[in-house]
Amino acid sequence: MHFLQSTALAATVATVSAQVYKGFNYGASDSAGAPVTQDAFEAQFNAAKNLVGTSGFTSARIFTLIQAGTTNTPSDAIQAAINTDTSLLLGLWASAGQTNIDNELAALSAAISANGQQFADAVAAISVGSEDLYRISPTGIENMSGVGAGPDVVSNFIGQVKQAITNTPLAGKPVGHVDTWTAWVNGSNSAVIDAADFIGTDAYPYFQDTMANSIDDAYSLFLSAYDQTVAAAGNKPVWVTETGWPVSGDNRNLAEPSTSNAQTYWDQVGCGKLFDQVNTYWFTLQDAFPNTPSPSFGVVGAGSSAVDVPTNPLYNLSCTDASSEAPASASALPASADQASSAQAGGNNGAQRQNTAEQSGQFSTGSSSAAKATTAASTTAAQGAPSPSSAASVTPSPVGGQGSGSTETVQSTNTVTISSCPGGCDKTASVTGGSSVPSTLITKTSALPSASAAPSGCPASLSGTFEYPHLIVPVSKDQPDSAQGTSFNGTISSSTSSIFNFDIPTSDNGKTCTLVFLLPEQSQLTTSAYSLSGSGGFDVERLTSPATEQTTYNSVPDVQSDLGGPADVVAGQEFVIASGACQGGTRIGYKVSATGSLDLNYFQDYNPSPIGFYVTVC
Ligand SMILES: *[C@@H]1O[C@H](CO)[C@@H](O)[C@H](O)[C@H]1NC(C)=O
Ligand SMILES: *[C@@H]1O[C@H](CO)[C@@H](O)[C@H](O)[C@H]1NC(C)=O
Ligand SMILES: *[C@@H]1O[C@H](CO)[C@@H](O)[C@H](O)[C@H]1NC(C)=O
Ligand SMILES: *[C@@H]1O[C@H](CO)[C@@H](O)[C@H](O)[C@H]1NC(C)=O
Repeated sequence: MHFLQSTALAATVATVSAQVYKGFNYGASDSAGAPVTQDAFEAQFNAAKNLVGTSGFTSARIFTLIQAGTTNTPSDAIQAAINTDTSLLLGLWASAGQTNIDNELAALSAAISANGQQFADAVAAISVGSEDLYRISPTGIENMSGVGAGPDVVSNFIGQVKQAITNTPLAGKPVGHVDTWTAWVNGSNSAVIDAADFIGTDAYPYFQDTMANSIDDAYSLFLSAYDQTVAAAGNKPVWVTETGWPVSGDNRNLAEPSTSNAQTYWDQVGCGKLFDQVNTYWFTLQDAFPNTPSPSFGVVGAGSSAVDVPTNPLYNLSCTDASSEAPASASALPASADQASSAQAGGNNGAQRQNTAEQSGQFSTGSSSAAKATTAASTTAAQGAPSPSSAASVTPSPVGGQGSGSTETVQSTNTVTISSCPGGCDKTASVTGGSSVPSTLITKTSALPSASAAPSGCPASLSGTFEYPHLIVPVSKDQPDSAQGTSFNGTISSSTSSIFNFDIPTSDNGKTCTLVFLLPEQSQLTTSAYSLSGSGGFDVERLTSPATEQTTYNSVPDVQSDLGGPADVVAGQEFVIASGACQGGTRIGYKVSATGSLDLNYFQDYNPSPIGFYVTVC
């Protein structure tokens, strides 16, 4: 991940491209399972264009090219889009194997034959798949989210679609993939990023129910998910393909569905961050016809029939007030400790955990329409076919990084004082629609002594490419057989150690990876906090295999090498622990234990100033 560069690039794409797409998601079936027909699609597309208080909702994301109830007939959404001058983010369902992709490609080819250039003119981009990678992740599986597909399968299908549109009027349309943001930050899925022309990301703070996810924290949770996707996406543009807040349904932890909260989310995330800046497909225009699901995300309710789609929204969609408020809310990152702890979630390192809730929920919302989007035929095919996920299981990069290959060299531990960003950390990126991550993450008052620099002279600070831990697992000798699962905090005390898993992508091969620990002054933190007491340092051990959420004190993997660590940890320092050739395609677990009476508990966060363990890559 080319962190800073990608941010700048994504921003450029968003601001320079002639058109920024803005629209909603549209299922192939209604909430009772009936196929949506052309007149109903037209009614929905027209309602979106005429939504009271808005303008410019003229794009539509669909999950499948196949009309519901048919084998491979093109979706009625295509003709409806042409008739209503609506652009389309086309979707192909990628979790039902080759047979279904062949049917999707047949529908694509039929639509090209029937409508040629008119069809091409309506196409914004093509997404091959939707949340397929999420569904094979541990949380997706735990939540029985359905059959997914692995990175090689998705990449292969992307290639087939690119091939299929060569020498047709659709040639050159961006072909990408939509998945949960947590799938994008998982280094094992990097082949899909490589294969895709754009990255579609889905993020729902409402479902992030293992975190402080009240509406007050929703903006920062969303922003964190978006920023992390942008960081993982390299130079590929990021589109927001699903986000929204429910108007009704059950509370999820601190998240309460209501029209008033949905409006806040629309104002802050939609008006303040996304609309007309980032290609965005909101979830959703209407999900309540004929039955209201729980939760329900529609900005309009049900009309009297499939073709009677209200244009009066359930809450005020006017961005007038919001657009002046949103920048303030964006910069109003919590100053008080109290607020900080709730906002910490927004800056979480979080691959794992967020997914838990979020994804599952996504499946029951966005993806349930996706699931419904598959035809009876393809669903049957999916169930009957050899499981795509088992096919996919051959693909993940080798994990563990055990044994022979380690070329890590232990550096003497050195420290550097961190100052605040003189002249202010650069926040201009947020203005241009990119990430709000500043381009200057840490400004050091003194350069690293050359002896402490990594062999190739990499900086210890996060001024370039870096990896953050995708899993943090505390283990306590007080509860030696208890699995504490994933954590957003690093805890290092005489009773508790923490294991940090890093996924090193294959693209880092040939570069130098350096494990660093950053502990800014509390006053330098905007979205994080820590407690530090006692005196002493810590010791880092590289394990022979990474931790899992089930790892306990008694089941910590064996130590492969002891990397040492600082004897004395005080605030305002950064520490180089070890450096060596990157082992791309591996997941590496480091266990960090206190020495002396150190008692440190911090929220791992890369928002300024970054705090915690990172692997810098150069
Ligand atoms: C990361 O991605 C790989 C490949 O898709 C998947 O097998 C693995 O379960 C994912 N890990 C997590 C923690 O989601
Ligand atoms: C998804 O799985 C996680 C982890 O097991 C669980 O906490 C969450 O409640 C599940 N969500 C649903 C909708 O089942
Ligand atoms: C929506 O909010 C805008 C801006 O505050 C206001 O001008 C407009 O009258 C509101 N519309 C409705 C229907 O309340
Ligand atoms: C994580 O760290 C923050 C900052 O020290 C603290 O407020 C919060 O309670 C910690 N959370 C856990 C679960 O330890």
